[in-house]
Amino acid sequence: VKIAAVIPAAGVGSRMQLDFPKQYLVIQDQTILEHTVHKLLALPCITTVVIAISKEDDYFSDITFTDNRVCACFGGASRAESVFNALKHLRDDKPDWVLVHDAARPLVLPEDIATLVTQCLEKDEGGILASKVKDTIKQGDTKIEKTVPREQLWSALTPQMFKFDELLAALELGLKEAPHTITDEASAMERLNLPVQLVSGRSDNIKITSPEDYDLACYLLNKQKE
Ligand code: C5P
Repeated sequence: VKIAAVIPAAGVGSRMQLDFPKQYLVIQDQTILEHTVHKLLALPCITTVVIAISKEDDYFSDITFTDNRVCACFGGASRAESVFNALKHLRDDKPDWVLVHDAARPLVLPEDIATLVTQCLEKDEGGILASKVKDTIKQGDTKIEKTVPREQLWSALTPQMFKFDELLAALELGLKEAPHTITDEASAMERLNLPVQLVSGRSDNIKITSPEDYDLACYLLNKQKE
């Protein structure tokens, strides 16, 4: 089986209050994007890693990946569009499966990626890494309307792994019919009632979104290197 990876990295990261995209912040001696890409390259079963970058990106050209499995394409106006463009980029040398992983999640462990890949191939069904919600969840605007039972709640992480043809078709339709609801790959599959497995992954596979996430990521990446 041929498995490709897509890394959407075309966001501007406005919540980080930086004047450059957050994936170019440096931790130890590498950008967040490089840490992320190397986590995927650690899996020999991945044949290609496509990074979707913004047309306005002035930083990507400063990075060199020596592994010839890495290539880049242009992203789009939303995460879903960026992933869709990357899938179209892969169409000529079509993989059987694709793993989509946020550039902003450098903490994922190759072991967790491998678990997801094994589960999806074994069950012949797409799936995502996810972690069970630990907090008590409240719904409301400025006051609590209700407490949402958390027994069945999961936080969706990445990677998310699907059959290439199915994801391409689901994203195309989702982007046409309900673009704002497609905040991850699974949501495009769900609206077509396609099954998606929940594969338990480490909750410290955080998405670096705000400045405090960056501090946490520095600490955790240092610990991984020990
Ligand atoms: O903005 P958010 O943190 O949800 O972005 C998740 C991932 O999607 C990031 O890696 C970001 O670079 C990527 N993204 C993208 N194209 C966009 C917006 C976000 O590739 N237009």
